[in-house]
Amino acid sequence: MLEVPQPKGLPLIGNLISLFAGRENCIYDAFDKQAELNGDIFNLKIVNKNWYIVSDLGLIKEVLVKNVHEFPKGTTIDELKQIGIGESGIVETEGEQWLRQRRLCNQAFRKKELHTMYGSMVEKCLEGADLLSREPDLNILHFMNRLGLSIICKVSFSHNVDCLKSMTAEDKVLTTQNVGASELRKRVQFGPFWKYLPTPGNFLVRKLVKEQIAFFNSLIDERLESEEHKNDLLDRLLAAKDENGDSLSRKEIVDQMQNFLGAGHETTATAMHWFLYLLSQHKDVEAKVVEEVRSVYAGRDAIDVDELDKLEYTKAAIMETLRYKPPFPTIPREVGDAKTLGDYRVERGAWVFIMIQRVHYDPKYWGEDADKFNPDRFYKNDNPASDRYAFMPFGIGARSCIGDKMAIMEMLTIASLLLNKFQFELDPNQKVVPYLLFTQISKFGMSMKVIARD
Ligand code: HEM
Repeated sequence: MLEVPQPKGLPLIGNLISLFAGRENCIYDAFDKQAELNGDIFNLKIVNKNWYIVSDLGLIKEVLVKNVHEFPKGTTIDELKQIGIGESGIVETEGEQWLRQRRLCNQAFRKKELHTMYGSMVEKCLEGADLLSREPDLNILHFMNRLGLSIICKVSFSHNVDCLKSMTAEDKVLTTQNVGASELRKRVQFGPFWKYLPTPGNFLVRKLVKEQIAFFNSLIDERLESEEHKNDLLDRLLAAKDENGDSLSRKEIVDQMQNFLGAGHETTATAMHWFLYLLSQHKDVEAKVVEEVRSVYAGRDAIDVDELDKLEYTKAAIMETLRYKPPFPTIPREVGDAKTLGDYRVERGAWVFIMIQRVHYDPKYWGEDADKFNPDRFYKNDNPASDRYAFMPFGIGARSCIGDKMAIMEMLTIASLLLNKFQFELDPNQKVVPYLLFTQISKFGMSMKVIARD
């Protein structure tokens, strides 16, 4: 049995200092730099905890696909549970509890159900387009966050958030998401004890999360009383039944609503800001996307859901964006019952970081041009890698993303509807440095000029 190799560290703090070696202090970049030096599996000893950084696809499959129960999410998501993303929904639970919820929730994400969401996506994109025509110089990351949040609130529980009226318009749901994200950052950065301190941020996040739960409960009450069918995710969660005829409890439904909100808006928003950025840097790709979009839209403001299938090159450019800049470049797991990983001995309670983005750049699976942004590889081909697991923006295995098809449909709708109407130009002064917060974003924002097309 082999020991996971550990780069030389210092007494007491181990390899802690190496976490600060990333560009602009980005932790993913620090992992990536260490992986260049230490290979596809190594151990960073962070004070007294082992962090195994894994980029080998065979070992990743062992963690996420073959022995998924031996590598739970465990304590890696403790901090997430307290900032309004849910406590015991499908994102957080394990084992039987997770399986039951996942089966019930799957019913809400089938193709037929997804098609009924399309009208809401178009409605919100048109509102977004209206905002862009009024505010042509803006941080496109913030805009996409507002648009993503509006879409997820509409398709999840038919709620209209106010954040597309202007780039400064306030909305309670948006505030809760933003405050939650900023408090999560502090708790991860300063340590888990931070949440127990009497800081204004800690009080605020607790108050907002409580209000959000009360708000979701009031939406459920209204729905149950009115018996009106809105054809949204909430309706489907209320109707879902397992093979014994059991449904989700009210607490479980609230948890899923929090999960969908948390997991389903920043991810797509992040992906879309990279998509527009990459197009601005690859004018040939942009020209092909715009030509396809304009020919399918043929002078209309929106298209039918079935026509999305005609946007083959645009879809390829979106898939390539997810390979090139995955919203989650790494995901964590904990060593549970596993004693080994491949030929290596692993320690219970250690954390394992799966290096999604490194696999996406590995020439073994993607060829010699793996480091080039090239949508052609995905044209009419949903998985061009030599190993199908090597494309994992949505994770792989049982715990992979439940919303992947919804996300692709949403991104295709946003991309095509907006590019049909507008040209996006990157501000020449914009500094672009990838940075891992909750998702991988451009640290200094993404200022763009939006120009209406004729
Ligand atoms: C571009 C958009 C998206 C990306 C890149 C993305 C990525 C991911 C990834 C990597 C995971 C696995 C995490 C892990 O294994 O630790 C995941 C899980 C999940 N995602 Fe997504 N996601 C996206 C959009 C969405 C949307 C739109 C929804 C729902 C409305 C959603 C809901 C979820 C849920 C509930 C899980 C947990 C599944 C489980 O544990 O069974 N995601 N997502």
